[in-house]
Amino acid sequence: MKKIVTASLLLGVTLFASDGYEVYKKNCQSCHVEIIEKGEALKNLRKMKAPPMVEVSNRLKENIVIKDDEEDLHRHLFILFVKDYIINPKLDNSMCHAGALERFGVMPSLEGKINSEDKQAVAEWLYDRYENVKFE
Ligand code: HEC
Repeated sequence: MKKIVTASLLLGVTLFASDGYEVYKKNCQSCHVEIIEKGEALKNLRKMKAPPMVEVSNRLKENIVIKDDEEDLHRHLFILFVKDYIINPKLDNSMCHAGALERFGVMPSLEGKINSEDKQAVAEWLYDRYENVKFE
């Protein structure tokens, strides 16, 4: 009995959890290109409204440094940062380089446009999507 309950609970979670990629397409894609090579990005800078997601993900991963190389904790801190940033984008919090900030300006807040499940899902997606995918 216990097993069945656990199984249906797990199933419930997967059924109702948001799909991070869908959230990306709905809320982020209009500004952040999903994947592009660095050379292409530089050529198309004028057409872009924000840094490509592959760059955002890689830069955040590099900038979030923890003492012992603990992948879970690293991912956790990354997700916390992203969830906070999309609601409270601030110059002081941005890890974007100065040139990009000057070019694009600070990201507009998505407050009221995204619920907490979608925030969690898109932040997880942003970490996992670019596992071993570098911006180069
Ligand atoms: C209206 C355009 C726009 C939309 C929509 C948008 N962003 Fe951004 N975003 C920006 C711009 C511009 C920047 C670069 C300046 C900055 O760091 O604030 C940025 C930067 C970021 C950063 C980098 C912060 C850093 O310090 O490097 C993250 C993370 C981010 N966006 C996540 C998201 C996610 C996730 C979504 C969708 C849920 C999203 N953005 C939707 C425009 C947008």
